Amino acid sequence: MDKIQINGGRPLQGSIKVSGAKNAALPLLAATILAPGTYTLHNVPDLRDTRTMLMLLQTLGASWERSGSSVQINTADLTGAEAPYDLVKTMRASVLVLGPLLTRAGCARVSLPGGCAIGARPINFHLRGFEQLGAVTRLESGYVEARVQDELTGNTVYFDIPSVTGTENVLMASVKATGVTTIRNAAKEPEVSNLVDMLTAMGAKIEGRNTDCLTVTGVTSLQATEATIIPDRIEAGTYAIAVGATGGELEITQCDPSHLPVLIEKLRAAGMEIATGKKSIIASCPVNSRGERCSLQAVNITTMPYPGFPTDLQAQFMALMIQCNGTSIIHETIFENRFMHVAELQRLGAKINIDGATAIVNGIARNNLFAAPMMATDLRASASLVVAGLAASGTTEITRIYHLERGYENMVEKLSQVGAKIKQVAG
Ligand code: EPU
Repeated sequence: MDKIQINGGRPLQGSIKVSGAKNAALPLLAATILAPGTYTLHNVPDLRDTRTMLMLLQTLGASWERSGSSVQINTADLTGAEAPYDLVKTMRASVLVLGPLLTRAGCARVSLPGGCAIGARPINFHLRGFEQLGAVTRLESGYVEARVQDELTGNTVYFDIPSVTGTENVLMASVKATGVTTIRNAAKEPEVSNLVDMLTAMGAKIEGRNTDCLTVTGVTSLQATEATIIPDRIEAGTYAIAVGATGGELEITQCDPSHLPVLIEKLRAAGMEIATGKKSIIASCPVNSRGERCSLQAVNITTMPYPGFPTDLQAQFMALMIQCNGTSIIHETIFENRFMHVAELQRLGAKINIDGATAIVNGIARNNLFAAPMMATDLRASASLVVAGLAASGTTEITRIYHLERGYENMVEKLSQVGAKIKQVAG
């Protein structure tokens, strides 16, 4: 199994181009099920997860072809409505085919994703939403089976907690439902808005984009379309945080700074200089009169649904806080088990205590952070180990990096090009 080796302690300098967002690409790919035809999606990142979703579409009878970052998908003749366990177990977002299959085929059978490294992650909100639109769902032999009884009919669907993929799934189940569907307490993540834009281009009637109340008036037909995946805000944020951990100056291009309001605010509060353009961020660490990097200050964060601090950046932010002046309180409110990176960061010398959903991080001097072997446990935890490894003195080795390949396109190459001593080696 491959590993990542990092020789830490080198500032990042140069320019990194952000790829398309994994969490926007997945629902947009699933949306190609909705209407038969040929779709062209641009800026699709080539990741393990997007390849899994394309494989799933192929299992359902679609064909596809990639040309650079564009993917053409033909869903004219779908032959199946089942997402098998082997695919779902590698990527829970496979459940995103449930909504569009209900619309297109009137039925769907999708393996129930189990718990994962960051929490139990049930899909009860998705299923309740489908039922409120007139589908019947049941669980059999580890599979969720959903079937439209008579027809999908508009209704009010209320989410107890805003769910990103739940909102996307219910949206895709409602676009052709008879009458009006209102989704209340909907997720407002930019990835949801990216899907709303694609559905609108297909002919759907949706009001309330970017708000927590989406109103869908069912239409009788939809057409295949062309759509562009938004830039990955989590990838952009990870690189901005990495500069804080290593020093230097990085221009992060082809991103959307307006999607990272709280992170930018927090990095500035920590002492970083962040300049934003329409599609770029320049992140740098201040230096003193002798040209030495100044230490950053600890700041507190609480993860929240968008536009709050994203849970998908919590682990990386913690990897920065371990070497800041003072104490940082990190409160995780979205997932119950998203501190798997803590034990690994402690191996570098980080001083972190966990109290329930709160991590108390006591910053240590940068030169007291020493490289150690670490093991990746989930996607964002892996990114946090890379950030920490870039900062620590000595050679860090990270194993189980297949997690990283699920969500960061060419991370090793991108970081190498801006001065990091990082390479992937056979394990
Ligand atoms: N929840 C339920 N029942 C449900 C759905 C959600 O209790 O039916 C709970 C979850 O357990 C969680 C909260 O509601 O406590 C919010 O979860 P959400 O449904 O929003 O998460 P998700 O849609 O499964 C997406 C991203 C995650 C990201 C979260 C939160 C995709 C494909 N995944 O997951 O991304 O962390 O939203 O922003 O969009 C990642 O990229 O590393 C990742 C985990």
